[in-house]
Amino acid sequence: MTHPHLTIIDHPLVQHKLTIMRRKETPSALFRQLLREIATMLAYEATRDLPLTTTPIETPLEEMDAPTLKGKKLALISILRAGNGMLEGVLDLIPSARVGFVGLYRDEETLQPVKYYFKVPAELGDRLSIVVDPMLATGNSAAAAISMLKEAGARNIRMLCLVAAPEGVETLREAHPDVPITTASLDRALNEKGYILPGLGDAGDRMFGTK
Ligand code: URA
Repeated sequence: MTHPHLTIIDHPLVQHKLTIMRRKETPSALFRQLLREIATMLAYEATRDLPLTTTPIETPLEEMDAPTLKGKKLALISILRAGNGMLEGVLDLIPSARVGFVGLYRDEETLQPVKYYFKVPAELGDRLSIVVDPMLATGNSAAAAISMLKEAGARNIRMLCLVAAPEGVETLREAHPDVPITTASLDRALNEKGYILPGLGDAGDRMFGTK
């Protein structure tokens, strides 16, 4: 299984923080803090090729043509609810981004996504959309969310996740080969309930102390 657009961020700080997140005894507050920090670093890597233009400015000493981001503000799309754990970290890096939400829950028997909410920024066709969801497990939710974004006009989409399963990467590659994925880890497999192994458990429950 290969994905030409799968990037695994092997930065030591990302890997160290992820290990703390994986530990079952890590409390929710620390889990949320680390997810936010890692999301910032994943976003930093996933945006390193954003197009630039130049703008004439004056420094205290002279005029110059200085680099600025080209095009419309980015759209950050959080897949509820766990995506919200990454959202703030990406907004720390790109505070002027527009934000959208896709509400999907996973039917625990079929493992298929069921939509309950969809609210995204206007003019998606002119923006880079960055979809955030910490766990790319079956890939069904991410693939469905991205299909909805494309129906809403999005053409330039990237996916950020904390941990990916090979099955999820393959599902996304088949459904949306144009969407690059950035992750902190490609884990071993899914279990029979659709959880990632070794993974870190249910990211939403661990963030919010539910279950
Ligand atoms: N969602 C999670 O939160 N964890 C998994 O392991 C799989 C899906």
